[in-house]
Amino acid sequence: MNTFEVFKLFPITIESAKGLELTDSEGKKYLDLYGGHGVISIGHCQEDYVKAITAQLNKIGFYSNSVHIPLQEELAVKLQKLSGYSDYKLFLVNSGAEANENALKLASFYTNRSKVISFHGAFFGRTSLAVAVTDNPAIQAPINKTDKVLWATLNDIESVKKVIDNDVAAVIVEGIQGVGGVQIASDEFLKQLRELCTQNGTMLIIDEIQCGYGRSGKFFSHQYSGVKADIITMAKGIANGFPVGAVMIDPNIPAKFGMLGTTFGGNHLGCAAAIATADVMAKYNYVDNAAKMGAYLMGKLRGHKAIKDLRGRGLMVGIETVADAAEIRKRLLFDEHIFTGFSGGVNTIRLIPPLCITEKEIDRFVEAFDKVTK
Ligand SMILES: Cc1ncc(COP(=O)(O)O)c(C=O)c1O
Repeated sequence: MNTFEVFKLFPITIESAKGLELTDSEGKKYLDLYGGHGVISIGHCQEDYVKAITAQLNKIGFYSNSVHIPLQEELAVKLQKLSGYSDYKLFLVNSGAEANENALKLASFYTNRSKVISFHGAFFGRTSLAVAVTDNPAIQAPINKTDKVLWATLNDIESVKKVIDNDVAAVIVEGIQGVGGVQIASDEFLKQLRELCTQNGTMLIIDEIQCGYGRSGKFFSHQYSGVKADIITMAKGIANGFPVGAVMIDPNIPAKFGMLGTTFGGNHLGCAAAIATADVMAKYNYVDNAAKMGAYLMGKLRGHKAIKDLRGRGLMVGIETVADAAEIRKRLLFDEHIFTGFSGGVNTIRLIPPLCITEKEIDRFVEAFDKVTK
């Protein structure tokens, strides 16, 4: 049997990795400024992380949510400390799309409303509700199309006011649009959105799946604005590559037995991976490192003649290039052996590296970028 070919692949097979270094099947080394799509937060094969998962696997890897799993509570406490969201509740799932799916469903249950407002350029995943609020008709099947989703423009509160009504359960917004090309939801806009949602009894869901977990230089990117969301979704960096997603929920939203559920979410091994990731994040202060290294990187790139627009916060950086970004990205990979991300719609190279990146690794990228844009 062959695999179902939905991914356009680079002809590269990665066999091992450490920190930000990837090694392919021919022994070639690459610098990873893509983090496997923003997933690797504390570095590949980080020692404490490998040890913790191995130890957990030797005890128990999985049991279902029909029994008490204290690791879930341990993880909740760690996330509370890291995020500063002290009294929220945690629901664990397996991916970003599943986190958003549950967040939207929860908002609808709680408000007893059926519509949602999303934004042009947004990406929330590929499952049914998640893809319905994603601004890309090409990845929506006929079964996903719905008139329950209303569209507004990021950073334009008037466009939200135009569509909000008393059947809108939630507004869902990425703290920083990732796939959309590193477009920041401004602090002012998030404040206005918070106010508007509160006035209308609408839940504010902030997707921190790509921009969260320390990447922006704060634990959640929306924390620059000082607003609090009703529901926050996380995935990617939360367990450094182990598939874990999470929904953080305002304590005023009551849980009811059976309203949400999952077989794999919150399993022992996933929790151990997420706990180890949280411990390493705290031990090495990687949120601060993201802020510092992000500023260092932006400082090096600002004013570069090959760059049309430079956007970002911390270690989520979008480089909109003058020349074709796809071609530059290809040369970075094949000539300079550096993995980067890409947002085609806005001709942007996206850097979402592990948060343990050093100045030396940034220097290597900047040198390579100079070379391929000469
Ligand atoms: C902002 C955002 N939300 C949701 C998702 C979907 O996550 P997953 O692929 O884990 O379902 C992604 C994936 O890239 C994302 O960037």
